[in-house]
Amino acid sequence: MFQTAAKTFSVSAATASSYRRVFSVGLRRYCKKTSTKLRVSEALSGAQLGAAVKGWVRSVRPQKNNIFLHVNDGSSLQSLQIVADAKLNDPLLTFGSAVEVSGILKKSLHQKQPVELEAEQIRVVGECNPVNFPFKIKERHSLEYIRQLPHLRCRTNAFSSLLRIRSEATAAIHSYFKNNGFVQIHTPIITSNDCEGAGELFQLEPSGPAFVDEDNFFSVPAFLTVSGQLHLEVMSGAFSRVYTFGPTFRAENSQSRRHLAEFFMVEAEISFTESLEDLTKVMEDVFRSATERVLARCAEDVDLFHRHVTPGHRVSPEGRSQPGSSISYTEAIDILHRSSEKFTFPTDWGCDLMTEHEKYLVKHCGNVPVFVTDYPYDLKPFYARDNQDQPKHTAAAVDLLVPGVGELCGGSLREERLNLLMARLKRVGLEDTYNWYLDLRRFGSVPHGGFGLGFERYLQCVLGVDNIKDVIPFPRFSHSCLL
Ligand code: 4AD
Ligand code: MG
Repeated sequence: MFQTAAKTFSVSAATASSYRRVFSVGLRRYCKKTSTKLRVSEALSGAQLGAAVKGWVRSVRPQKNNIFLHVNDGSSLQSLQIVADAKLNDPLLTFGSAVEVSGILKKSLHQKQPVELEAEQIRVVGECNPVNFPFKIKERHSLEYIRQLPHLRCRTNAFSSLLRIRSEATAAIHSYFKNNGFVQIHTPIITSNDCEGAGELFQLEPSGPAFVDEDNFFSVPAFLTVSGQLHLEVMSGAFSRVYTFGPTFRAENSQSRRHLAEFFMVEAEISFTESLEDLTKVMEDVFRSATERVLARCAEDVDLFHRHVTPGHRVSPEGRSQPGSSISYTEAIDILHRSSEKFTFPTDWGCDLMTEHEKYLVKHCGNVPVFVTDYPYDLKPFYARDNQDQPKHTAAAVDLLVPGVGELCGGSLREERLNLLMARLKRVGLEDTYNWYLDLRRFGSVPHGGFGLGFERYLQCVLGVDNIKDVIPFPRFSHSCLL
């Protein structure tokens, strides 16, 4: 019995099935006309009856009466299953081809698949010759293999998961700073200073003939930034909390698994702070809040990594989960001296901690993140605050070391005392170069400090990825700049 306001119709048992047929055909026509363009992730939630989906074919399974496809558009790890009458099969429907499909979304009979799309129409919009396509259907390709194909690797499950996670982590980091009162500063990519003083700068020069007569385009030597810290410190004279998150460049002649020539760094600078704990608290909180959000919003993608790409790896959102995971540099050197491990590099007081030392210290402390504080004064750049604790003589600097990676963050309190800063700059002949920086101490100087977190190393740590080149879309390192 179907009842409307004015009329009542009754349908006999005999006419019910023919009614259903007519109704279903009518519905299909209606859906075809009104199909909504959906992303695969939206279609999987099954909200729309008539749907049109565009994406790339991840699998094709022709059967006698039907053909089954999986279509993915990058919006989720899961692909949408398409069921179509065998007559819609087309030799161009191959793994990797781009298609437009429209039809009716319905509940799938497969438990894992919430819905499937019963196709009315399939159009191949981009062919893909499976013979030449370097990825093979149903094969799991290693990170090393797909790394050699930077123009195609986003089409693999593993790398598309990585890119969604990277995007979510970026948003999470911005949210953390926004929610905690930090002002974002767009620090420059082109700069005339060498913040870290390590001489790892890429110098910039015009490539064309326009300026051949000039010594320098900018009239001074200009470089790609190695850190936005000094520009953040400028802003710290007016804003008590600032941050930046952008590309950073270092001409490190290194093929290591944790160095890139171009990487992304998150940097924060906090005014009116007098202790390293204020900095380590922010490091922990950024780590925890970004990781919580990534684990919550990219659960399937993270699970793919932990299950298939880096089996056995787990991460807890806790930055520091156990007491005793903060040690001084001097204690770290003692631990290294007491160890029976044979290190390649020296472990004397005053030497820099190398990756092998950092990894050992993390293991020694129970495989949890470890803060190492108060490094030798002479190891740190001019801006680090003097602890004035001679004869050892250390600076108020801190590194966060994490399992599998080693150094994730580097930071320090900054030397806010004009006389001490001026004396140090004078000793290294940089007093004139950094006269503007000294001005920051001349006018309203306050105790402040900050740190930088390597974004790719953060992703390595969360996902357990051994090689940094596998967590950035287009890795740049010495002797390699593909695309
Ligand atoms: O320890 P770094 O050199 O610190 C600075 O640049 C400070 N000025 C930051 C600040 O206080 N605002 O670099 C910070 C972090 C490192 O801990 C590491 O995680 C990452 O940046 N990093 C690199 N990541 C990839 N490739 C490289 N070549 C890197 N060099 C540093
Ligand atoms: Mg460092």
